[in-house]
Amino acid sequence: MAATLRLFYLSFLSFFISFSTAQARTSFRPKALVLPVVKDLSASTPQYVTQIKQRTPLVPVKLTVDLGGGYFWVNCENGYVSSTSKPVPCGSAQCSLFGSHGCSGENICGRSPSNTVTGVSTFGDIHADVVAINATDGNNPTRVVSVTKFLFICGSNVVQQGLAKGVTGMAGFGRTKVSFPSQFSSAFSFPRKFAICLSSSTFSAGVILFGNGPYNFGYLNADLSKVLTFTPLLTNPVSTSPGSFMGEPSVEYFIGVKSIRISNKIVSLNTTLLSIDSNGIGGTKISTVNPYTVMETTIYKAVSKAFVAAVGKRTVASVAPFSTCFATQDIGSSRMGPSVPDIDLVLQNEVVWSIIGANSMVYVNNSEVICLGFVDAGSGPSTAQVGFVVGGSHPMTSITIGAHQLENNILQFDLATSRLGFRSLFLEHTNCANFNFTSSA
Ligand SMILES: *[C@@H]1O[C@H](CO)[C@@H](O)[C@H](O)[C@H]1NC(C)=O
Ligand SMILES: *[C@@H]1O[C@H](CO)[C@@H](O)[C@H](O)[C@H]1NC(C)=O
Ligand SMILES: *[C@@H]1O[C@H](CO)[C@@H](O)[C@H](O)[C@H]1NC(C)=O
Ligand SMILES: *[C@@H]1O[C@H](CO)[C@@H](O)[C@H](O)[C@H]1NC(C)=O
Repeated sequence: MAATLRLFYLSFLSFFISFSTAQARTSFRPKALVLPVVKDLSASTPQYVTQIKQRTPLVPVKLTVDLGGGYFWVNCENGYVSSTSKPVPCGSAQCSLFGSHGCSGENICGRSPSNTVTGVSTFGDIHADVVAINATDGNNPTRVVSVTKFLFICGSNVVQQGLAKGVTGMAGFGRTKVSFPSQFSSAFSFPRKFAICLSSSTFSAGVILFGNGPYNFGYLNADLSKVLTFTPLLTNPVSTSPGSFMGEPSVEYFIGVKSIRISNKIVSLNTTLLSIDSNGIGGTKISTVNPYTVMETTIYKAVSKAFVAAVGKRTVASVAPFSTCFATQDIGSSRMGPSVPDIDLVLQNEVVWSIIGANSMVYVNNSEVICLGFVDAGSGPSTAQVGFVVGGSHPMTSITIGAHQLENNILQFDLATSRLGFRSLFLEHTNCANFNFTSSA
């Protein structure tokens, strides 16, 4: 009798544990994980695409990286085959990790898979399946580890539309309990921290690292986690993204830009726009789905005017989506990219994020023209992101720092201490494509 009871108790316990959170399959506990991330130009705007392995048997799955996205979703409508995929029941601990959610007729937990590139959002069941990823020592991938019950939302063909070629979903890295960093940290019990380094090249991958450093891909093998400058990450009390419920806080990453400086002169602008008000309006966020930085129209105009004055060259006809362009022959070039003055984002405590020429400028029209790679929110929706997330000349968020401005910078998001570490790798004489993806056991 006692033995039967104990057996019952044990199986009940293991049932409970196995449903409590994503589980690591191996006894080996990695301290850090690594993913490649490739710049992909096959869709209407550049996307940064990573690849995991998922399902049983494992298959490669390509996903567009959405830094501010809360969820991992993948198209289940077309070609999802797996013997281990399980729907998550309503009322389960796994379901509650998603916060606000719905329930289908079959009592399956659900939430919106959102395509933040196109703004399309539907409803989808939540499932758990196996995900495999490389562990790393900070130098190379070391060995493949897997998580047995990695949670995701089922997307559809309609939501997938608009993603880069071969991409069937999105990987959210935002502040939820079920984003990529949260699920990996909880599966392997390492710090809730990740670093992202986007390459500007379309053939040489950049890197995403989960967990603590070292991050060794400098040419002297210097640990890049030791050269970061830090600023607090701010939370917006109101969500600014599609597919969220009323009253949910934003899961995106905001930073406190206090002023903008060009050639040591503060750009005169309405600083009220730089802070987040109680309705969630204003402030500065970081995005990987916006290819270029988008600025509220009065901020854009002030920055553009100051920049043109500091460059001191004639402007030429603009090339959409940009409004401030120069003839390439008038602008020199250096190791830091086109020779233009830095655009300094002055953060809390006078910490500065300097946007160098390589990040501020974009070559267009067969490189005959070079433009300031910022988009005026008032110039109309030239891309879906601008149209959807931003919406008009006075967008909800005043400055959205886009992916071109992030390339070849290492950004470390520490969720436990809520701070961002950043550093331009040009200052370290390396770049984001220098991580060595050859496995070493
Ligand atoms: C692990 O890394 C190796 C070498 O880069 C790669 O070939 C392999 O596909 C990766 N495995 C997973 C599960 O991502
Ligand atoms: C500055 O922006 C705030 C918020 O949009 C607005 O209420 C205020 O009128 C603006 N001030 C000026 C001087 O334009
Ligand atoms: C772009 O290039 C085309 C052809 O080379 C040229 O006719 C056009 O004027 C250029 N546009 C700008 C804005 O320079
Ligand atoms: C990359 O890593 C592999 C495995 O450790 C090593 O053999 C190779 O020399 C490294 N390549 C470079 C360019 O450092």
